[in-house]
Amino acid sequence: MAIHNMRADIDHILLTEEDIERRVKELGAQITQDYAQYGDGVLILCILKGACMFFTDIARAIDVPVQLDFMGISSYGDAQKTSGIVRITKDCDLSIRGKHVIIAEDIMDSGLTLNHLTHLLSAREPASVRICCLLDKPERRECEITPDYCGFVIPNEFVVGYGLDYCGYYRNLPYVGVLKEEVYSKK
Ligand code: IMP
Ligand code: MG
Repeated sequence: MAIHNMRADIDHILLTEEDIERRVKELGAQITQDYAQYGDGVLILCILKGACMFFTDIARAIDVPVQLDFMGISSYGDAQKTSGIVRITKDCDLSIRGKHVIIAEDIMDSGLTLNHLTHLLSAREPASVRICCLLDKPERRECEITPDYCGFVIPNEFVVGYGLDYCGYYRNLPYVGVLKEEVYSKK
């Protein structure tokens, strides 16, 4: 797959850098308020790789003590539709037992990935587990799950940028845009 001009592959911008920055600050303030009561703060778990940009921004928008960790999950491969099969490709390093955990994810689509992950993490006996995702596509849900914190509800369109990819590319776009259909149909 050759990408010569990634910006030209974007049909339209859905969320600008400013939209994202504003909303991430709001989410950070909300989380700060909700977790201020806990002395040992919160452990934010970045779901690689899609959440990487969101994770670093939201962590800095939260004003309670924070620990950071990373987890690799594979359910999507290179396609645009989830297989429903979820595999841990990299586990977190810290113990989450007794901790207040917030999962930072890029997008909730079918919900299968996060449904599986929250069950898996709950078995490790954290004090709590909540989901914070930048984007939510509720139309596509295949199980009963909603994010505790959500940046934006978006329509059922395939988006890239600000961490989200198609075939591993477009993650470094600073905004979230809808990918032109011809980009994935010509593959
Ligand atoms: P779910 O298990 O169907 O909720 O899948 C969630 C994962 O699918 C996300 O972490 C993304 O990696 C990927 N995904 C879903 N929708 C999109 C999209 O519009 N653009 C890029 N990746 C997406
Ligand atoms: Mg992904």
